Amino acid sequence: MTKVTELAFALYGRRAGTIVRDRSRIGLSYDTSYLTSADPTPLSLSMPLSTDAYPTRSVEAFLKGLLPDHEEVRARWSRRFGVRPGDTLGLIAAIGADTAGAAVFAAPDELDDLLSRPGAVEPLTEADIASRLRQLRQDDGAWHDEHDEHWSLAGGQGKFTLVRRTDGGWALPSGSIASTHIVKPGISRIRSQALAEHVSMRALALLGLDVATTEHVLFDDQPAIVVTRYDRRPNRAGTVVRIHQEDMVQAFAMDPSRKYEADRGPGVGAIVNRLRAAADDDSAVRFTDATIAGYLLGAPDGHAKNYSMLLLGRAARLAPLYDVSTGLVPSATGRLRYGSAAMSIGGERAFGEVEAKHWVRFAKVVGQPADAILQRVRSLAESVPDAFRDAIRELPRSEDATFLSAVVLPSIAALDAQTVTGLTSSRRTGGRVVVPFVRTLEATPVTGTEADPDDGIEPDDETDAWDGGAVTSHR
Ligand SMILES: Nc1ncnc2c1ncn2[C@@H]1O[C@H](COP(=O)(O)OP(=O)(O)O)[C@@H](O)[C@H]1O
Ligand SMILES: [Mg+2]
Repeated sequence: MTKVTELAFALYGRRAGTIVRDRSRIGLSYDTSYLTSADPTPLSLSMPLSTDAYPTRSVEAFLKGLLPDHEEVRARWSRRFGVRPGDTLGLIAAIGADTAGAAVFAAPDELDDLLSRPGAVEPLTEADIASRLRQLRQDDGAWHDEHDEHWSLAGGQGKFTLVRRTDGGWALPSGSIASTHIVKPGISRIRSQALAEHVSMRALALLGLDVATTEHVLFDDQPAIVVTRYDRRPNRAGTVVRIHQEDMVQAFAMDPSRKYEADRGPGVGAIVNRLRAAADDDSAVRFTDATIAGYLLGAPDGHAKNYSMLLLGRAARLAPLYDVSTGLVPSATGRLRYGSAAMSIGGERAFGEVEAKHWVRFAKVVGQPADAILQRVRSLAESVPDAFRDAIRELPRSEDATFLSAVVLPSIAALDAQTVTGLTSSRRTGGRVVVPFVRTLEATPVTGTEADPDDGIEPDDETDAWDGGAVTSHR
């Protein structure tokens, strides 16, 4: 097995520094020529531009943060690339040609060549993509197929990356070529999940939030959500440029296993403070809005790896929102398994239980006037169900679309109506909620439900982790 001890990295196409392993220590240094160049960008806000040494913990946390959260995928990649399990540097060397953000990693004597070589794209037919989706549906650890793939992204859901060519066709990039889209078949144990994710994100866009562009596409008979990468931009020469980003777990130099607040990950307060200090007020306000809107959609997975910052020179700002999906999708037996948000809102996470006093505390945490937050909650609660419905109406008719409008939308509307009610009254008696709101939602089945009892969804005692990538259950 090869053991990588040194890697070089580039940012925005410029050679920027090296990472060296010396026994258990991993050090990172920026090149002097990079530090003195015009407007250099740091790899991570946890490793600001300087000649200082960074703790191994920061370097390793950042690099690990580029890898899948899905343990089985990391294990497979280790075998495929001949890397010892747990060897982060070795894996980054293998997949470092295309990761989240603008960083490109390669062996020190190969980096310049990788950056200057044109790279290649291999055109794919619709049938090729459909077969890839079929493969992922059968085996959600099959992120790479036999092709010569060298990319990585975080997350627990099955996915792959593609390039959209100027003629609208799809292709598989290699070498220095940046992928432009992320394709996910959706979480198979949650009915219509890819469509629910698209509709959730599209609803946020209709509400005016800054969110990644998505499409729901049928490749032959295989549905998928196709996400446009905001960390890729075509330049005037027609090539695609990488824009740098890091997620809110990397920004805190935390191990990705801490992405959930319940696992000692960053919560609303820590993120808002970080955005105010490192980015700008607008980013903090947009994050606050995203937290409220995510709650009102019944989105359970808004952890700190599902928020990122874009980094360019000294500037930072909250990236567009991504990976937002309602979890108010009943299982085959009508159970709602995802009953709370990932981050605490003024001390409460359970859907339907966040009341005025929590929003007031939340306002304090995010540094906004209570009145403004209460007003924003009310106004979003009144518009989220319409936006969700409008996003469904944009779609061609399908069983999945009908399921979303007949079954999921009423639950979102009920949560939002409850949230408005909670602004002026309490569901607590002696400080305690007797029957959780989501349980009452389950007890009032939606009429005209299209839920198919034989939809192949697993029994209810399965793990409640959203993407199967997290080991612990939080809900
Ligand atoms: N639109 C996007 N543009 C750029 N990067 C993205 C975009 N969407 C997701 N990412 C990056 O890809 C990672 C995985 O995507 P995500 O949709 O969160 O997958 P999962 O559902 O498996 O968590 C994210 O953590 C983020 O770093
Ligand atoms: Mg994610």
